Amino acid sequence: MLILLFFLLSPAVAVTERCHPDDKAAILKFKNSFSNGPQLLPMWTSDRDCCDIFDCDETTNRIIDFSLTNSNLAGTIPDVIGDLTYLKTLRMHKMPFLVGEIPRGVTRLKYVTFFDISWTNVSGHVPSFLEELKSVMILDLSFNNLSGPIPSSLATLPNMIGLDISRNRLTGSIPESFGHLVSPALQGLSLSHNMLSGEIPTSIGKMKIYQIDVSRNNLSGDASMLFGAMKSTSVIDISRNNFEFDFSRVSFMEETLVTLDISHNKIYGKIPTQILKVFMLQFLNVSYNRLCGEIPSPWKLRYRSEGFDKTSFIHNQCLCGSPLAQCK
Ligand SMILES: *[C@@H]1O[C@H](CO)[C@@H](O)[C@H](O)[C@H]1NC(C)=O
Ligand SMILES: *[C@@H]1O[C@H](CO)[C@@H](O)[C@H](O)[C@H]1NC(C)=O
Ligand SMILES: *[C@@H]1O[C@H](CO)[C@@H](O)[C@H](O)[C@H]1NC(C)=O
Ligand SMILES: *[C@@H]1O[C@H](CO)[C@@H](O)[C@H](O)[C@H]1NC(C)=O
Repeated sequence: MLILLFFLLSPAVAVTERCHPDDKAAILKFKNSFSNGPQLLPMWTSDRDCCDIFDCDETTNRIIDFSLTNSNLAGTIPDVIGDLTYLKTLRMHKMPFLVGEIPRGVTRLKYVTFFDISWTNVSGHVPSFLEELKSVMILDLSFNNLSGPIPSSLATLPNMIGLDISRNRLTGSIPESFGHLVSPALQGLSLSHNMLSGEIPTSIGKMKIYQIDVSRNNLSGDASMLFGAMKSTSVIDISRNNFEFDFSRVSFMEETLVTLDISHNKIYGKIPTQILKVFMLQFLNVSYNRLCGEIPSPWKLRYRSEGFDKTSFIHNQCLCGSPLAQCK
C-alpha cells in the first residue's frame, strides 16, 4: 500500500511513455501550424504522453483515433496529418475556421476507415486522390465549402459503406462510375444540397443501397431506376430537383421503404396502388409535381394508422381523393 502510494505521489517515477515519437512530432507540428493552436490545445505538449490524449493501439502504441470537434482552430489542415500513419479514425467536425483545401498528406492514412471532415469551411475540389484511401468505409465531407465536380474515382473505394458529400457547392453531374461502384457494401449515399445537374446514371439502379438522398440539386430526367419491388431501399429522397418521369411505372419496396420524398419535381402519372402494400412507410411527400388520378386508399400502415395528410399531396396537376377533394 505504502509503495503504491509512493508511486502515485512521486512525480520522479519514470513511467515508460507509450507515445510513438513520430506521432508526438506530428501532433506538435499539427498544433503549431495553427496561429491559435498553442492557445487552444494547451494540453498537447512534448512532455505529455500522446496516448493519454488520444486512443493508441495497445500493441503498436500508435495513435488510431484523431478526433477534433467543436474547435475554433483557424487555418488549413496541415499535410503533417498524414504522419499519423496508423489512424483508423480521422474526424474534424464543427470547425468553422478550418479553411483551405484537403491536403494530399491524408493519402498516407492507409488504415483509415472513418474519414470525416464535416461542418468546416474547407474549400476547393473534392480531391480525386481520396481514391487512395482504400480502407475507408465512411467518407463524410458534408457541410463544407467544396466546389467543382464529384471525382468519379470515388466509386473505386472498395470498402465504402457510406458516402456523404451533401451541403457543399458541387457542380456537374453524378459520375457514370457511381453505377459501377466497386464496394459491394454501399448503404448510404447523400449528395443533397449541392448544384448537381444532368441525369442520374441508369446503372445506379443496379446498386444495392439502403438510403439515397439527392435532394435539392438540379438533377433532371428519369429517376425511376431507384425504385423496384425487388430492392431493399429504405430511404429515397429526390425532392427539389427537375426530375420528370412517369410515376405510374414505378414499383415500391414493400418490405423496406420507410421514407419517400419526391416533392418539387415534374413527375407525372398516377400514384401506383401498390404503394398501399408498403406497410412500413412513415414519411411520404409527393407534393408539387404533375401527378394525376385518385390517391390510393385505404392505407394499412404499421406506424401511421391515420395515413398521410394533405400536405403530402398538394400542388399536383389533378390528384384527387382523400385527403384531397373527392374525385369528380
Ligand atoms: C463558414 O464560415 C462562415 C463565416 O465566414 C460561417 O458563418 C459558417 O458557419 C462557416 N461554416 C461552417 C460549416 O462552419
Ligand atoms: C468558400 O469558398 C470560396 C472559394 O471557392 C470563397 O470565395 C468563399 O469565401 C468561401 N466561403 C467561406 C464562408 O469561407
Ligand atoms: C437546371 O438545369 C436546367 C437544365 O436541366 C437548366 O436549364 C437550368 O438553368 C438549371 N438551373 C440552375 C439553377 O442551375
Ligand atoms: C411536403 O413538401 C411540401 C413542399 O416542400 C411542404 O410544403 C409540405 O409541408 C410537405 N409535407 C410533408 C408531410 O412533409
